[in-house]
Amino acid sequence: METRKKVFSGLQPTGNIHIGNYLGALKNWVNFQDSYETVYCVVDLHAITVPYDPAEFKKDRIAAAKVLLAMGIDPQRSMFYFQSQVPQHAELSWILGTMTPTGVLNRMTQFKEKADKAGSNLGLYSYPVLMAADILLYNADLVPVGDDQRQHLEMARDLAERFNNRFGEVFHIPEAYIPEVSARIMSLSDPTAKMSKSDPNLKSMVLVLDPPDVINKKIKSAVTDSDPVVRYDRTVKPGISNLLDILSACTGSSTDVLAGEYATGGYGAFKQAVADAVIEEFAPIRLAYDRLDDAEVARIMHKGALDARTAAEGYQVKVREAIGLERI
Ligand code: TYM
Repeated sequence: METRKKVFSGLQPTGNIHIGNYLGALKNWVNFQDSYETVYCVVDLHAITVPYDPAEFKKDRIAAAKVLLAMGIDPQRSMFYFQSQVPQHAELSWILGTMTPTGVLNRMTQFKEKADKAGSNLGLYSYPVLMAADILLYNADLVPVGDDQRQHLEMARDLAERFNNRFGEVFHIPEAYIPEVSARIMSLSDPTAKMSKSDPNLKSMVLVLDPPDVINKKIKSAVTDSDPVVRYDRTVKPGISNLLDILSACTGSSTDVLAGEYATGGYGAFKQAVADAVIEEFAPIRLAYDRLDDAEVARIMHKGALDARTAAEGYQVKVREAIGLERI
């Protein structure tokens, strides 16, 4: 019998889960559950690589798990847990770190951007190694992410190949799954910059849990240009193109068809259609979120971690053996 392909992905629990995260990656996480073996992780060890407040972090961890459950991550079908509760992630990260040239880490654009903003530390520097460990730990084949993770995914593939060449075939070579339309949702206040969780300006992003009136306001005030024709052109009309991407990802219609439909009706009607589509997309998630109880979420995550530890250990023994360590 052919085994199903395995999917792995992670989300940092840094509050502000936004429409970019959702359309770029999380929506695919949910859909992949139908046809693949899925492993999803709230990557809390990644989140502590930048300055944070422990009390806020505690809330954000649970909130992130709750948002994912509300979106439809189903613990009956997916392995779902907190990264810090499965120590094999950190162990494999150390092992992979011993075969990561520092020259490769020096080229990582996200490290440079974050280090410029928040200051550098060893954890932030080796962040992509831990990310490679997350993926390789379960021998994942497919990794649904947004465009900003492309470089990290390349590194994970290189590390898998490097390891296999040196110690024998242990790892699958993972592939990124990056959606065509919504891989890079841009900031609503500056459509030339990526929508980012760490942007202090909350008007720049629609959050998954924003109430309908807030979504409406944010989309209506999204920065666009002054030529009132709706058409797709990322260079000349980045704001309108971004909204077309959002509408397309929410409705399933292509940006071409949508641009045709809204071409001459003015920006007001177009923005209203985008706001309505986003409100409709997020309404069931908000409803499910409000119904979930924190203690129940903690219980689900605890059970998920126990299962994940067992699964991870099954793979990790092969890694230890391959590199000359012992089974324990
Ligand atoms: P994170 O938590 O920043 O983001 C979660 C997912 O959202 C995607 N994303 C976007 N997609 C489209 N447009 C945007 N503006 C946008 N902003 C974010 C991200 O690409 C990501 O898929 N390093 C990862 C977390 C991670 C991980 C992993 C992912 C850790 N280990 C292993 C996959 C596999 C991150 O910071 O995601």
